[in-house]
Amino acid sequence: MWIHQFINKLFPARIRSRELREWKVRDFAGPSPSCIKRRVLLRLGILEGTWVETGTYFGETTAILAEKAQQVYSIEPEPALCARAQALFAGRGNIEIIRGTSEQIFPGLMLRLSGDVSFWLDGHYSASMTFKADKDTPIKEELAAIAQALPRLGRVAVMVDDVRCFEPSHPDFAHYPSRLFLVEWAERLGLKWHIEHDIFVARKD
Ligand SMILES: C[S@@+](CC[C@H](N)C(=O)[O-])C[C@H]1O[C@@H](n2cnc3c(N)ncnc32)[C@H](O)[C@@H]1O
Repeated sequence: MWIHQFINKLFPARIRSRELREWKVRDFAGPSPSCIKRRVLLRLGILEGTWVETGTYFGETTAILAEKAQQVYSIEPEPALCARAQALFAGRGNIEIIRGTSEQIFPGLMLRLSGDVSFWLDGHYSASMTFKADKDTPIKEELAAIAQALPRLGRVAVMVDDVRCFEPSHPDFAHYPSRLFLVEWAERLGLKWHIEHDIFVARKD
């Protein structure tokens, strides 16, 4: 598994072009490849502010966000993935890898945030060695904590990955709330929202 990350690191352009080739073979059907999703983050996030990522996994997105961000907090509950990322980013002053679930970490982390903040909400069970609790996604808790913190933050961008999974009538996604839940959350808070490349985007400008 680390081999995958090692190869990604050595040959990012080759990985990107393979992802794009495979996407073309699928006639550009969703979900969009990671390299496209990362472009959405860089285009719609508030790059130079603070980023909060849930689900560090191999730290690939973490590293990209940290190139511009003032500070990146990335949360990972799976012990081996978390330790790996902490070692990978040791000495990188603007990256903090936090061990725990979003449900545990968000309430305290929100109190540390100020100014412009972008959220990449991508922490969920995704097979293989990824963390699995009694439910597959902490999205409801994450959004509730963000809603509470919103009035005292500056500009905010919230990006929720894998919108295709927000379909609780599907047996694989029974733990996910509906897409309407995301829309109503954003509307209630007066946020502008849209969906692109399988990502729900809500912004306070
Ligand atoms: C799809 S991967 C994240 C990919 C990564 N954000 C990226 O952009 O490359 C999902 C990660 O979320 C983690 N995870 C699972 N449940 C979680 C929870 N309750 N809170 C935070 N992270 C969680 C998994 O262990 C896994 O590493």
